[in-house]
Amino acid sequence: MNSNTHTDSRYTFPENFMWGVAAAAPQIEGAAYEDGKGESVWDAYAKIPGKIKNGDNLDQACDHYHRFPEDFKLMRELGIKDYRLSIAWPRIFPNGDGDINQAGLDFYHRLFDSMETNGITPWVTCFHWDLPQSLETRFGGWRSRKTVDAFAHYAETIVKAFGSRVKNWFTINEIVAFTRRAYGMERNAPGIVCDTKTINQTYHHALLCHGHAVQAVRQYGQPGSRVGLVDNPLVPIPITDSKADIQAARACFAEDSRRVLDPLYRGEYTADYIKEYGAENLPDVQAGDFDLITEPCDLIGLNIYWGYYVRADAEGKPERVPFPPDYPAASVDWLKITPESLYWGPRHIRDIYGEQTIYIAENGCGYHDEPLNEKGECLDLQRRDLIRNYLKELHRAIQDGVDVQGYFLWSFMDNFEWGEGYGIRFGITHMDYTTLKRTPKLSAYWYAEVIRNNALYH
Ligand code: NOJ
Repeated sequence: MNSNTHTDSRYTFPENFMWGVAAAAPQIEGAAYEDGKGESVWDAYAKIPGKIKNGDNLDQACDHYHRFPEDFKLMRELGIKDYRLSIAWPRIFPNGDGDINQAGLDFYHRLFDSMETNGITPWVTCFHWDLPQSLETRFGGWRSRKTVDAFAHYAETIVKAFGSRVKNWFTINEIVAFTRRAYGMERNAPGIVCDTKTINQTYHHALLCHGHAVQAVRQYGQPGSRVGLVDNPLVPIPITDSKADIQAARACFAEDSRRVLDPLYRGEYTADYIKEYGAENLPDVQAGDFDLITEPCDLIGLNIYWGYYVRADAEGKPERVPFPPDYPAASVDWLKITPESLYWGPRHIRDIYGEQTIYIAENGCGYHDEPLNEKGECLDLQRRDLIRNYLKELHRAIQDGVDVQGYFLWSFMDNFEWGEGYGIRFGITHMDYTTLKRTPKLSAYWYAEVIRNNALYH
């Protein structure tokens, strides 16, 4: 549809709003053991029977490692100009520390060359969960401060190597996913259940790594480079716009932010943190740690897929309103369809921590999307509808003065959805995992229109 035919500008986004797509190395690259890459904790975890649905693994994934020119060409055809990707730590340092793997650096140089050819701007995440297994085996992974030292060197190395071509950096992705869900429950690799103090220690180490990455960008990045964390806060949605319900939702957000956003923005483990976890479970903190953690950032990335409802009870205290059993969800049950989460996530951040430059680093939805129809198409109307409704709420946040400067749709193509394997598809491009054929879905063509128009028209 041609933008000239529309006069309705209700959902026009600010000039220069950034529209992108996102993915992460371990979920798409494949070539898990090629060209000197070391094993990651996820490569190892996938070998344990029963950990990943259908016994899927990351060995081949979308074979992006060999097919990236095709993928970037497709992005260009769709008019996608910004792409959030991650660098695989075990490709650069197969053991996490020690010898560097030149072939790994060369691969990302080829990747950035191809992006440049296709007019695509990289937004690079330094760490998206693929910890080198060797760090886990030798030191206990995120439980050990040695992992922080190794990361600091890794971050410095990649910023030195790619800083002249990458201007936008995300430090680490979703701390909770590789700390509490990996060392507090068996949900993510390495899936070892530890005590509360150890879990708190893994958070602390992750925060230190974030600080090291910020420092690396400041020291070795080109002038004007920007950097920030990617967090995935739980988003409480007030069930009405009454002051009391909004206040209740804000209180819940603040409560959930103790382990990541409080230390990041307040530079301490607060009294609330100590009350919740107990002084005996405070992580070991060394002199200077909070200076590192609070290194000033240029932006924060938020991954938001869903929220939960909250109201104020008769005494004004926050009360969670449970989802009724038949409340709509995507094909992964945790993803309750809650467009307002894209309004309230950024808004709570602003209301609690003050004005911040926000990017939605991920938003999207997982469905089965199979099989393709007899014409070879995937008409994923449900995904288009969901994203459209979420984007309307993001638009409302911007209208209300929240500084949101961009949006990355997760994901450019179907990929390895961690414990769910390949059964759940988050892409706007369909992947045939046998032939590796890429087929843009209806949602991809729709999103291309959104980008072209910088607006939602239909
Ligand atoms: C967040 C993670 O960063 C990404 O890796 C994952 O695939 C999506 N959520 C969807 O679950």
